[in-house]
Amino acid sequence: MPSILITGANRGLGLEFCRQYLAEGWLVHACCRNPANANELIAAGATGTGQLHIHVMDVGEPEQVEAVAHALDGGPLDVLLNNAGIADGYGHGAYEKKDDPDIRNYDFDLWAELLRINTIAPTQVAGAFLNNIKVGDQKKIVNISSGLGSITNLSGAGKYGYCSSKAALNMATRGLSEWLKPQGVIIVPIAPGWTRTEMGGPNAMNSVEDAVTGVREVIASLTLEHTGRAWDFDGTELPW
Ligand SMILES: NC(=O)c1ccc[n+]([C@@H]2O[C@H](COP(=O)([O-])OP(=O)(O)OC[C@H]3O[C@@H](n4cnc5c(N)ncnc54)[C@H](OP(=O)(O)O)[C@@H]3O)[C@@H](O)[C@H]2O)c1
Repeated sequence: MPSILITGANRGLGLEFCRQYLAEGWLVHACCRNPANANELIAAGATGTGQLHIHVMDVGEPEQVEAVAHALDGGPLDVLLNNAGIADGYGHGAYEKKDDPDIRNYDFDLWAELLRINTIAPTQVAGAFLNNIKVGDQKKIVNISSGLGSITNLSGAGKYGYCSSKAALNMATRGLSEWLKPQGVIIVPIAPGWTRTEMGGPNAMNSVEDAVTGVREVIASLTLEHTGRAWDFDGTELPW
């Protein structure tokens, strides 16, 4: 049975990743901050042919990350999916051009939090589960990034914290790929596209089902040839 660990698994894209991997018979380690309130996730465990293990994990709390790694007890993981994330301007943003571009109005404490959760935490999580990935068959680490992290594709000012946190995640992923490729481990950023979740808001282009189906197809197709490169949910390569 292939296995995956997913962060931010209780809602949005993370919940749909759990549903789809469970439906395909995977062992899913679903991590979220408040399992007691994760009713949709718990319900997902009762469907599909896979196995669901739910763990408490705030990705910004290293001792909680280590506790989950301890619970896995060196067991194999095929895929680590760093999905949890936060944004500045929920439900709209650079896609809808509603951001205030004036840096003097920006919330710099929020920017620091964006870097902590979107950039630093996924790289710490990658380190915590690296030994599990190395004994897994597929050896894949996927950092859910964003098209808004592409410097080449930047289309306007604003969302400074979110965009830079994902651009920095891309850079960290690229750096890690140089270290991990000789160890046989694939690591990539994948952008899920603008998707109708709490973060993406109701006007987004993609349903969670389509976005997750697309990202899963990209994950399934990854080989060491693809490591250290950025991918969009439709399988095209994203420019940095
Ligand atoms: N939706 C889009 O249009 C879009 C586009 C590009 C990229 N993305 C990326 O896709 C990923 C998922 O986004 P989404 O749209 O599903 O967002 P969402 O609906 O807001 O869900 C975010 C998830 O992350 C979790 N989370 C936030 N902070 C966390 C922390 N410190 N520790 C653990 N979990 C935490 C949330 O848990 P709680 O319920 O506990 O808050 C929730 O499960 C993010 O990395 C996001 O940047 C989304």
